[in-house]
Amino acid sequence: MQEKITAIRAQAVQELQEVQDLAQLDGFRVKYLGKKGLITELLRSVGQLPRGERPEIGKEVNVLQEEIEAGLQARKDALTRQALELRLAAEAIDVTLPGLPVNLGRRHPVQQVMEEIQEIFIGMGFAVAAGPEIELDYYNFTALNIPPEHPARDMQDSFYVAGADEVLLRTHTSPVQIRVMEARQGALPVRIIAPGKVYRRDDDHTHSPMFHQVEGLLVDRGVAFAHLKGTLEHFVRQMFGPDTQMRLRPSYFPFTEPSAEVDISCVACRGEGCRVCGHSGWLEILGSGMVHPRVLATVGYDPAQVSGFAFGLGVERVAMLKYGLDDLRLFFANDLRFLRQFA
Ligand code: PHE
Repeated sequence: MQEKITAIRAQAVQELQEVQDLAQLDGFRVKYLGKKGLITELLRSVGQLPRGERPEIGKEVNVLQEEIEAGLQARKDALTRQALELRLAAEAIDVTLPGLPVNLGRRHPVQQVMEEIQEIFIGMGFAVAAGPEIELDYYNFTALNIPPEHPARDMQDSFYVAGADEVLLRTHTSPVQIRVMEARQGALPVRIIAPGKVYRRDDDHTHSPMFHQVEGLLVDRGVAFAHLKGTLEHFVRQMFGPDTQMRLRPSYFPFTEPSAEVDISCVACRGEGCRVCGHSGWLEILGSGMVHPRVLATVGYDPAQVSGFAFGLGVERVAMLKYGLDDLRLFFANDLRFLRQFA
């Protein structure tokens, strides 16, 4: 028995040294301390010894067991520390390495101009409203008094959602007029602008299938055409400079009556006539008019009591005029040489 204990101790010391990782260490534990392990067997055989020998041999086996347990723990600590050190070495951060330069982005020129437009109207007391880009036929057309046979409703002109002929990408920001008035339930005044993306099946050097508009709407008691004119004049002078001239041209929109197209004096030639303005001296920048009584009635406002004006402005067009560009597609070509020119 004595010899056996000595032999197992020597074997254990040897094997423990050979253990390379935690998995092997667990094998070692099972081999010695497991249910059928060498130590467990030794303890069991102590019971078979003559009574007189039991205490002393038993004690020795206990000591051996404690030694093995202690050795096991020490090896485990060492292996764990080793693994951690390896990992730390692999993950080491060299704080002396020069950093990667952070590329600062900037706002897209269309975004910049849109924000500039918003600031001007916010300054006049307009609040900013928003609506969905995927819109229902009702808000985009019907509630705006656009008749069923109107060309804009044609599949050739608008993007419809496949399998849902009542759903399309909004062709203008005017549906926000309807949504806002509907939500206000007759409350006055309504005084909002609605900036956002719109979509049409158009693609050439002055048209993109996606572009931006800023809608404006003011509804209250006693709103007159003069208010529309004054508001737009203030906007035009803020946006294009105090000397800018503005003129209204009679036009037609189903949702305004009367309607007017708004021109400004050419930013390139100051009205003399040049290539930019097609030698007319004028540039068209937006559509506008007095909200049609039928539109007011549709959303629960009494056209006998209240009136309003609305306008819709093309942001890319304003940006092109402001920066003297002749190709709208530059805005969406993602060419950094172009985009970097806008502070
Ligand atoms: N929605 C019109 C368009 O996209 C513009 C407009 C808005 C005209 C509001 C009048 C009033 O062309």
